[in-house]
Amino acid sequence: MEILAFGVQADEKPLIEKAFAGVHEVRCLDVFLTEDTAAIAVGHEVISTSVNAQLNAEVLRALAAGGTAMIAQRSTGFNNIDLEVAEQLGLTIARVSTYSPYSVAEFAWTLAMAVNRRIVRASNRTRDFDFRLDGLMGRDMRGRTVGVLGTGRIGEAFTRIAHGFGMELLGWDIAPAPGCVELGMKYVDKDELVAAADLISLHVPLLPATHHLIGADELRAMKDDAILVNSSRGGLIDSDALVGELRKGRFSGVGLDVYEAEAGLFFLDKSMEAVDDDTLARLMTFPNVLVTSHQAYYTVDAVAQIVDTTARNIKDHLAGRRGENVLVPAAAAP
Ligand SMILES: NC(=O)c1ccc[n+]([C@@H]2O[C@H](COP(=O)([O-])OP(=O)(O)OC[C@H]3O[C@@H](n4cnc5c(N)ncnc54)[C@H](O)[C@@H]3O)[C@@H](O)[C@H]2O)c1
Repeated sequence: MEILAFGVQADEKPLIEKAFAGVHEVRCLDVFLTEDTAAIAVGHEVISTSVNAQLNAEVLRALAAGGTAMIAQRSTGFNNIDLEVAEQLGLTIARVSTYSPYSVAEFAWTLAMAVNRRIVRASNRTRDFDFRLDGLMGRDMRGRTVGVLGTGRIGEAFTRIAHGFGMELLGWDIAPAPGCVELGMKYVDKDELVAAADLISLHVPLLPATHHLIGADELRAMKDDAILVNSSRGGLIDSDALVGELRKGRFSGVGLDVYEAEAGLFFLDKSMEAVDDDTLARLMTFPNVLVTSHQAYYTVDAVAQIVDTTARNIKDHLAGRRGENVLVPAAAAP
């Protein structure tokens, strides 16, 4: 049977081919699944999709009509999938519920230190043979305070690195992590964390309760020279309020791997088009802001785990097993 994989990045292709070798034929497409590309899936019982696939009602209906029975999503998040319609159509949808938290935690630190030590500006300068240090001064992390919002798998891995730097550890979570408490993390309320931290890193999921977790009030309460890093989901930060504070010259650095209106932009080449998102365009103009396009998970280790789990999810489906990665609508969830 041929599995059709949409939205495959060039680096990902050999890992996918390896995961399916000897089991199934796999055809990798670089196009993402959208209303326009759904027709390519006709006749494929199993397809695999990437984080930004459009799995809305219309696309799901087109897939089901074309003979698709199973969709193996190559990500943890599934906010792009209409699970209720999928269930009505009898489609099986599986995701990858866990993979290396180190990929994201280490990337969050990469952003934090890149903005702290002005790495992008330094690199741009030296490429131009400008070797001055003006404007490149950073700060030691040792002895400074980190505030970690969300101390689950990624937040805990991030905290372990902060501990290695010798930082004071503040945490905020509905369920404190024993591993973080053991490292000396003090759990405080969000207001205290936001006001005290020199570096704030976000690792909670995006839920109605966490939407704009860092909004105008929190941004105002932050230290003027704080660093803010978001490698979780764009909607955790009120981007317009962030632009407002940055315009005042505040914050030592802001590292964003996610952006609330990233759909339709991130993962795509928009370099030949006019940018119609004024908030993103303004964010890019600040010298202390670094934006990357949702690449925190993108390590060979994490992607290999994602594709191996995807292959296992497909095997389970074809063997009639319902694994723990199969998604059901929230109302029907156990
Ligand atoms: N940028 C990327 O490439 C990338 C990749 C993977 C995950 N992520 C993001 O990272 C997030 C965290 O992933 P994880 O694997 O650590 O998840 P996790 O479930 O292990 O941890 C999430 C933590 O958030 C806490 N939490 C949940 N709701 C909360 C609330 N309302 N208030 C306070 N705390 C709350 C939980 O108690 C938990 O400790 C994901 O939800 C995802 O959005 C980003």
